[in-house]
Amino acid sequence: MPSNVLVGLQWGDEGKGKITDLLAKNSNYVIRYQGGNNSGHSIHINNRYFILHLIPSGVVYPSVKCIIGPGVVIDPKSLIQEIQDIESIGINTSQVFLAKRAHLTMPYHRLLDKYKEESLGNKSIGTTHRGIGPTYEDKIARMGIRVLDFLNQKIFYRKLKENIDYKNQIITKIYKRKPVSFKEIYEEYMEYAKELHPRVIDAVHEIHRAFHEEKKILFEGAQAMLLDINYGTYPYVTTSSTSTGGVCVGSGVPPTFLKNFIGIAKAYCTRVGYGPFPTEIKNKEMSHFIREKGKEYGATTKRPRRCGWLDLFSLKYSCMINGINYLIITKLDVLSQLETIKICVEYRIHGKVLPNFPANIELFEEKVEAIYMDFPGWKQNISQIYEYEELPKNCKKYINFIESYLNLNILLISVGSERSQNIIKDKSSFFKIFS
Ligand code: GDP
Ligand code: IMO
Ligand code: MG
Repeated sequence: MPSNVLVGLQWGDEGKGKITDLLAKNSNYVIRYQGGNNSGHSIHINNRYFILHLIPSGVVYPSVKCIIGPGVVIDPKSLIQEIQDIESIGINTSQVFLAKRAHLTMPYHRLLDKYKEESLGNKSIGTTHRGIGPTYEDKIARMGIRVLDFLNQKIFYRKLKENIDYKNQIITKIYKRKPVSFKEIYEEYMEYAKELHPRVIDAVHEIHRAFHEEKKILFEGAQAMLLDINYGTYPYVTTSSTSTGGVCVGSGVPPTFLKNFIGIAKAYCTRVGYGPFPTEIKNKEMSHFIREKGKEYGATTKRPRRCGWLDLFSLKYSCMINGINYLIITKLDVLSQLETIKICVEYRIHGKVLPNFPANIELFEEKVEAIYMDFPGWKQNISQIYEYEELPKNCKKYINFIESYLNLNILLISVGSERSQNIIKDKSSFFKIFS
């Protein structure tokens, strides 16, 4: 059974948690393949609202196996806390597993993330301070500590010792801060290892087995395309491959396992942290309206999200890189009440239309101008509408324009945070993929 992939197409927080939860109903596996606890994926079912950081968003269904895959970086302290929080609201986590090849985020990674950001001053990235960048740095530098390492006391002892000797040089000599204690971290992590050991699996073989047994697998992206380390707005990005290509490297499956590439975008756009955002709304009243109506505050750091208009020029680029064949649009309800809604259709530099999405930050920072088309609003509450035909005329015009610009079918439109608030637009494709 070919697998499905869900990825964010903007700068994150498109509603991946909500939609993964919805699609997980008809999946046997939900797998995270990159990122770490920098993610915040929200789920809202009846009166229960909760946020997942490392646990895949299929966890609400007891029959769904949730795997934190090899390409994810795992902060065990944060994961254990998350498991306890989820259990405390009555959700069973016995089907949550972690890959033995996943790398561990250590306390010094969190510190180094923070120290580096502080030292960068106004050139900082605005990271989540969760230590994600430094964990991936160690992985690439071939000195990371993996889940399987902390299951073996002797190996963990040696690797931790080597790492701490090295990291303390950086911490004390470059950042002029207090060294970290080997003993404390060693003892702390030995406790975590005991607690997490029963959940550790060989995820690669498990996923391959599941595939050959015709199980339905859904890969859940974290962060989003424009934060991708290779193809995002570098250097204002995260440190993993957030695009669909990341599924293969982050879970050990070949591209031939994958079939449906579902991209998710908000009906407008947001960004947390610094970096280019050509459609950012400068008008304080308007951005305030969207932030408050859309509750646009970071699910992980609680920072106010920057708000902007839908940017189809960047979305086209995202769809291209990800090979998107189906689109999901979320938070359309947030735009109800607006008189006029803007959509960015191209970028210009000194009046000249840009043929491609820029690769260099300097172009973004100094010169990119977003060019808009105006659409009349619909000024009607749509959050209780479940059939596409019942949407107001202007709302359908907005949706049709997105489809024709991107030359893609919209599978589903989300009109509220609650699990049930959806309009399945392309019913035949939806039920073909998820039944
Ligand atoms: P993720 O990181 O992509 O999973 O997204 P987040 O959970 O960080 O942010 C999305 C926010 O929007 C959450 O608070 C969701 O509950 C909420 N949300 C998701 N879909 C909709 C929708 O269609 N309408 C509204 N109003 N809120 C939504
Ligand atoms: P979800 O999965 C939005 C942003 C940070 C910062 C940049 C780098 O909920 O969509 P990092 O801590 O990863 O080194 O920070 O990436 N960022 C996110 N923004 N949603 C996320 O995850 C994000 N994860 C990281 O704000 O700008
Ligand atoms: Mg989020």
